[in-house]
Amino acid sequence: MTNEHLTRIRMRPHWKMRDLCGFALAAILLVAGVTRSPAADSSAISPAPSLLLGAAWYPEQWPESRWDRDLSLMEASHLHVVRVGEFAWSRMEPQEGRYDLDWLERAVRLAEKHHIAVVLGTPTDAPPAWLTSKYPDTLRVDANGRRAEHGSRRQFNYASPRYRIFCADIAGRMAQRFGHDRNVIGWQIGNEYTDESFDAATLAQFQQWLRRRFGTLDALNEHWATAYWSQTYDRWDEIPLVASGGNPGLLLEHRHFVTETWRDFQQVQLEAIRRQADRRQFITTNLGGLAWTDNFDHYQIARDLTMASWDDYVGQGHLNAARNGAMHDLVRGWKRAPFWVMEAQPGSVNWAPVNTTLDRGETRAMAWQAVGHGADAVLYWQWRSALNGQEQYHGAIVGPDGEPLPFYSEVSEIGSEFERAGAALKDTAPVAQVALLHSYDSRWAIDFQPHNRNYDQLEVLLDWYRPLRAQGLTVDVIGADAPLAGYKLVVAPSLNVISSSLAKQLLAYVQQGGALVLGPRSGMKDEYNALNVQRQPGPLVEPLGGRVEQYYALDGTVPVSGELGAGTADVWAEQLSTRAADTSVLLRYGKSNGWLDGQPAMITRQVGKGRISYLGAVLDANLMRSAIAWMTQTAQVEAEFGALPEDVEVCRRVGRNHSVYILINHASAAKEIHLSAPMMDVLHEGPSVTVANLEAHGVAVLEAQAN
Ligand code: GAL
Repeated sequence: MTNEHLTRIRMRPHWKMRDLCGFALAAILLVAGVTRSPAADSSAISPAPSLLLGAAWYPEQWPESRWDRDLSLMEASHLHVVRVGEFAWSRMEPQEGRYDLDWLERAVRLAEKHHIAVVLGTPTDAPPAWLTSKYPDTLRVDANGRRAEHGSRRQFNYASPRYRIFCADIAGRMAQRFGHDRNVIGWQIGNEYTDESFDAATLAQFQQWLRRRFGTLDALNEHWATAYWSQTYDRWDEIPLVASGGNPGLLLEHRHFVTETWRDFQQVQLEAIRRQADRRQFITTNLGGLAWTDNFDHYQIARDLTMASWDDYVGQGHLNAARNGAMHDLVRGWKRAPFWVMEAQPGSVNWAPVNTTLDRGETRAMAWQAVGHGADAVLYWQWRSALNGQEQYHGAIVGPDGEPLPFYSEVSEIGSEFERAGAALKDTAPVAQVALLHSYDSRWAIDFQPHNRNYDQLEVLLDWYRPLRAQGLTVDVIGADAPLAGYKLVVAPSLNVISSSLAKQLLAYVQQGGALVLGPRSGMKDEYNALNVQRQPGPLVEPLGGRVEQYYALDGTVPVSGELGAGTADVWAEQLSTRAADTSVLLRYGKSNGWLDGQPAMITRQVGKGRISYLGAVLDANLMRSAIAWMTQTAQVEAEFGALPEDVEVCRRVGRNHSVYILINHASAAKEIHLSAPMMDVLHEGPSVTVANLEAHGVAVLEAQAN
C-alpha cells in the first residue's frame, strides 16, 4: 500500500483528524511487514552519560565513507549524542511509497560504535518535491493568499489532513525500524513549528473549531461584543481568518486554534511513534524562536511530549545572561521538569545582521548556564556545514575540509567537563521558592493592543527576574495556571488575562499562606479577551482591597517614592486606590500629570494566611531591586547562596542528598568568590575548596553534601 492508496481513504465528516491518521497508520502497519533489526534489543541499552554534549549531524549530506571520520572526531571531543534525520525526507522516501532507511540504520550503528547515542528527527519540516508537487494542497498559504513553494523548508500546511497522513506514515516507518533500537534514545518531531496557513480549508476548520468552542453564535457574538462596528455574525462561515487588526476576541481564538492545530499535527506523529517505540525513548520537539516566541501556546504543545527542548541562539553580540537564563527557566516551566537544549550556536550563526562570534570561553559559559538552569544535554547546530544550501556561512565544529575548526577545542573542553560532572548532576534539578507567572493569553492580549509601543513584556519580565536572580535565587517561570503550593513567593508582571477560575486559584494560594504580587496591566481581561467589568485586577479587586482607577501610557519618567525607597516609573503607570482599611500603600507617585500626583503606585494587604500586593508601574532598576527585596523578605524566602560579585551567576541543582552549585562568571575580568562552607570542586575531581577563582567567562561546579 502506498500513500496514494491511503489518500483514497475518504474522510468522513464525523471522523476527527486523529482517527483518520490512526486508521491510516494501522493500515500501513498491516501491510508493511516489520523486520526488526539485529540491534532491536531494548534490554541492551548502552549506558550514556547523564549529562550529554552533542551535535546535529547530517550523514545524508556526505559520502558514507566519511562517516567514520566524523564520528571519530566527535568521540575524541567527548560528544555522546547526535541528532539525525530531521531534514532527510528525500533520502528516506526518495519516491512516493519507496523507502530507504538502511543508510540511517548504518549511521545509527556506526554512531554506537563510537559511543554516541542518537536522537532521530522526523523529517516533516521539509517535505520532498515529489510530495508537494503532486499534492499542492499540502503547501501552506500565507496571510496574503500566496501559496508556498518547494526550495526552502516549512512550506507545508500544518492543517492539511493529507500532509498529516504522509507525516504519520514516515514517522511510523522510522519508529518501526528504530523504536526498539538500543542506540536510539529519543525522538524529535519535526523542527521548530513555525508558520500557520490561511487557505480556505484551514479557514473552514477554524470556523468549525469556533463552533465547538462557543456552541452558539449568540455566545460568540456576546463574548466578542460584535455589536461594535456591526461585526455580528449570523453564520459560522462569515467569520474571517485574519493575521492582525481584527476583533481582539477573534485574534485570541485564532491563537488558540493555531495552538490546537499544531498540537494535532504533533499528536499524529506522537501516536505513530508511541505505538511502536520503547517507553525509554523520549519524544520531544525543538521549539525555536529563542524560546520567547508566542505563535502558539507552548504549554499545550509540551503537554503531550515526554520532555521539552529548545534551540538557544545568541545571534549578534554576546550572551545576555539574564535574558538567556530566564529563557531556560521558561522552557523548564513548559513541563516543570529538566529539558534539553537541542540546538546551540557553535560560535556564530548566519542569520543575524552581523554574524559575530562568541568570545573564546563564552560558549562554555553558555553550556554551563544551560545545565545550571536545568538542561541535561546541549547539542550544537551543526557538526559541519553542507557544501551548498542556504546555511553555508553558519558556525560549525569542523570545516568544509572535514577537519576541526578553532571552536572544536572549546567543544572538547566542555565535553570532557560534562563527562566529569555527570555523576554529581545525575538526578538533580533546580528547585525554586519563587515562581514568576507567565501566560500566552496575557502576552497576546497585550501585544494585540500594546497601548504603549515601548511596553515590552519580556523587558518587564526581566525587570522582575533580574533582582531575584541577583539575590542568587532559583526562579521557576511557570504557566499562570500551574500548581503553586510550595512556592513562598509568586510574582505576576503583566498578567493581563485573569479569568474567574484563575482568580480563584490565585486566591486559594494566598489564603493558604502564599505571597502573591501582581504587576502592571494585571487582571484587565477575561478569557475571551473582553474587558473585565471590574477595574483591574478584575476578580481580585475584592481580596486586594484596592484597584486600578486608571492606567497611563508614559513617554517620560514619573517620580515614585515610599517606604521601599525612591526612584521613577517609566512606560506605564497605574493610579491605584485602596478600598479596605487594612490595605496599605507602599509606594506613591510624585508630581506628574495631575492624575497620578500623590496617588498609590503599590499596595498590599494580608489575606487569610498570606498576602496579596499590586505594583502598578514599570520601575527603574534600583527601585525595582528594593521592591523585590521587600517581596522576598516579607515572604521569608531563604538565601540559597552567599553574596555574589556583579556578573557572576549562581545556579543550584538539588539532588536527594546533595546540591550542586554552578558558578558562572559572565564578565571578561576574573572574579573570586568566597564560599560560606567548603565544597567539592567537581571539575577538578574532588578537592574541597573554600574559594572559587573564576577567570573571564570562567565556570566552577561545586558539590555540597546537604541541600
Ligand atoms: C534553527 C533551525 C536549524 C538551523 C539553525 C541555524 O532555527 O532549527 O535547522 O537552521 O536555526 O541557526
